[in-house]
Amino acid sequence: MCGIFGMIGSGAVDKTLSALKRLEYRGYDSAGIAVKNGGCINIYKQAGMVGQLRKSVPADIVGESVIGHTRWATHGEVSQANAHPFISQHKQFAVVHNGIIENHLSLKYRLQSCGAEFTSQTDSEVVAHLLEANFSGDTLAAVTSTAKQLEGSFAVVVTTAHNGNLYAIKRKSPLVVGVSGNEVYFCSDIRCLSQYAVKVAQMPDDTVAVSAPSGSVAFYDFDGNPVSVKFFTVDAAEDFADFDGDYMLKEILEIPEKIRQAKKGYFADGGLNLTAKVVHRIKRIYLIGCGTAYNSGLEAAALAREMLNIDVLPVIASEFIYDRYPVDNTTLAFLISQSGETADTIRAAERVAETGGFTYAVTNTSTSTLRYACNKFKNICADGEFAVASTKAYNCQLITLTLLLADIAYLKGSIDENVHNKIIDSVDSLSAAIESTLADSYQIARLADEIKDSSAVFFLGRTRDYPTAAEGSLKLKEISYIHSEAYPAGELKHGTLALMEKGVTVVAIATDSALIDKMSSSIAEVVTRGARVICVSPYGFSNATVVKIPVVNRFMFGALSVVPLQLLAYYVAKRLNRNVDKPRNLAKSVTVE
Ligand code: F6R
Repeated sequence: MCGIFGMIGSGAVDKTLSALKRLEYRGYDSAGIAVKNGGCINIYKQAGMVGQLRKSVPADIVGESVIGHTRWATHGEVSQANAHPFISQHKQFAVVHNGIIENHLSLKYRLQSCGAEFTSQTDSEVVAHLLEANFSGDTLAAVTSTAKQLEGSFAVVVTTAHNGNLYAIKRKSPLVVGVSGNEVYFCSDIRCLSQYAVKVAQMPDDTVAVSAPSGSVAFYDFDGNPVSVKFFTVDAAEDFADFDGDYMLKEILEIPEKIRQAKKGYFADGGLNLTAKVVHRIKRIYLIGCGTAYNSGLEAAALAREMLNIDVLPVIASEFIYDRYPVDNTTLAFLISQSGETADTIRAAERVAETGGFTYAVTNTSTSTLRYACNKFKNICADGEFAVASTKAYNCQLITLTLLLADIAYLKGSIDENVHNKIIDSVDSLSAAIESTLADSYQIARLADEIKDSSAVFFLGRTRDYPTAAEGSLKLKEISYIHSEAYPAGELKHGTLALMEKGVTVVAIATDSALIDKMSSSIAEVVTRGARVICVSPYGFSNATVVKIPVVNRFMFGALSVVPLQLLAYYVAKRLNRNVDKPRNLAKSVTVE
């Protein structure tokens, strides 16, 4: 959802281009840099990935400071004109921006009426023109008054022809500051700074920062009052790993180990970490997230129905914000997010907190905005996930949520010690079962060849298998671009059967022995109409190609049966020559509502 970077110091052009490459997971449809030297700012930008931008930047160009951007289009098509950075009309200010300027149109009309000429369709360009309009000799004053006029979410880094400083503005979009000697860095993701900076700080919301070539950084609120911000030492473990192959496959293969790690991390961090008093007060639990994180909440809610006698509702974060889900001091909300930076999920956490509920972040990043927006935090310990399509984080979210819900159920007395212990113990055999499923991946690769030309792929499951179907379908469509939907299997006969014909593939997930006959009937209905069926199950089905998975504890099936579907998506996308790690129209971290 756009990555921004800015720095003062030696090797600024090269370091900025390298950082943008690492930030590409946030958006990769266009990229650009602004290079400041003396009183002059030069812009290099274009549609396409950072590799293409690098080719267009002169090799000998030197910058005292550089700002850069990698874009995921929200306002305006993918084009060079809409790529960042944007420069003001008289070339006094250049900006890169991540977020959405909600009042950009009213600001634009006002600036145009004063003579500003816009060159793009973006909301971001308005910031550059506004800075120039607000400048009357004091750059910090121009930055703070600009910040005050903006509405929405924004992380902005500004370079100016007036001096050698870099300025930054932050509200609701992530922005980290790093320092090392007399070098200063601004970046959307802390993990890009670990190789450059010694100390880092998260910029608080509603602050501006001024950094100078001496290496100093000062923070102010939008009225210009100083704000104190704590720096901490960079954790090298937060760095991106460099890897030549497909991250998605690497991350799928890591699942067994990461699940063990998630369990270990859960207990090392004290388990549930809620007092019995708080747990007894809880009458309603929400599991809130977006995309894959929502699907893990959907699955966890199905498991919770077998453990708890209270309402446990999965809700899509963007729906939760604007709908009227009841919240009071008996409400616990788990906010699930791999990145911890998804704007909708953060807003949902704020809505729960504002209405008196208790918020619990379940994320993969210990320094994320979501973590600090919630009362409690649990790290899913999946380690860096770099493929844009989420895989291992889903499995680790599921394990962490299952442990959290099992602890709540045990404290509430709705499961006994025996069931509680079995759930905990079964995580280890789950890892072994996934290992054996991964060892059979050649079968999935072969099936991928057979289904890659399907006109559509439908995923079916009942009860706890439906969320797995939803995740399998999401994975396939997002990286192969094949049309795909997921349905509770019994719902099929209420309309969707109309779409079953030759050329359509159905993937059924059937892990509940009590529902085998029902699933068999659903399969028969689609086979009769010409669809071909693949069934992921520990059981045999005579009317489908079965991908066999081992039998595990019933609370663990979701984290197991999704693995063949993750592999299927991967292999189908490979057969279709898609960019599996960077699929079209998707960013790793969706930081706008
Ligand atoms: C799917 C995918 C997205 C994310 C969603 C939420 O593979 O990557 O659907 O799951 O954007 O992201 P997080 O978990 O970072 O909040």
